[in-house]
Amino acid sequence: MDIVILGPPGVGKGTQAAAIATEFGLAHVATGDLFRDAARRNTMMGRQAREYMDRGELVPDHLAVAMLLERLSQKDAARGALLDGFPRTLEQAEALDEALATKGRRVEKALYLTAPRETLLNRVAGRWICKDCQATYHEVFNPPAVAGRCDACGGPLYQRPDDRRETAERRLDVYLEQTVPVVDYYRRRGGLVEVNGDQPIEAVQHDLHAALGPQQSSGEPAGR
Ligand code: AP5
Repeated sequence: MDIVILGPPGVGKGTQAAAIATEFGLAHVATGDLFRDAARRNTMMGRQAREYMDRGELVPDHLAVAMLLERLSQKDAARGALLDGFPRTLEQAEALDEALATKGRRVEKALYLTAPRETLLNRVAGRWICKDCQATYHEVFNPPAVAGRCDACGGPLYQRPDDRRETAERRLDVYLEQTVPVVDYYRRRGGLVEVNGDQPIEAVQHDLHAALGPQQSSGEPAGR
């Protein structure tokens, strides 16, 4: 099963995707995490991507598609993937369909989370992320047990530079211009499920679960 999770910055894609991927035995493929990791390792792709990310712009399609296809070729994605942050343009959506078709696969569901602009800006402003395992927290809505430390692995928490108000505003505008057409693409094609992301984390999780249906759960963690 291949699933995409769509929605604006800060709507909760990463928070929800991690849990769904584990439950459904899918690889959690987050292109933002892949680019941040490449930037930390100072690879050529990472350096190129950082220039765009720091401005709140999308990384060019050819880099995003190359990064995604390389990740999908890894063993843990053979049974299916939950794509978080990809596709973000129509060109990416078409490239994904073509790549999956060569493996006899297709995007079965597009989960679309929504929330008002102010909610999104408040969420990214209070977000903290684990440097080691990328688990996500919020200083008010989902705080770690010990301030500054990850509950899952004990790693240090940091704030993303592109979560500054000005850059977050730009990311939202870019989303409206370039990614909303992708929502329409899946609406036309079938399989789009819209879920209200402006609810507590557990309520969103419940609605996503209902959209996916428990019968599809493998019960095995991702990567097996
Ligand atoms: P990316 O890392 O994908 O960022 P994004 O799409 O902007 O999404 P976010 O990570 O900001 O938000 P999220 O929806 O995952 O929310 P989260 O769960 O963390 O991309 C970053 C950049 O990389 C892009 O700008 C672009 O430059 C580049 N990029 C990536 N993919 C690309 C592609 N395909 N093509 C081109 N460029 C690409 O939650 C947010 C906060 O809210 C957290 O603190 C969380 O704890 C809290 N929270 C979550 N849910 C709730 C809730 N229900 N109630 C209260 N708080 C909540």
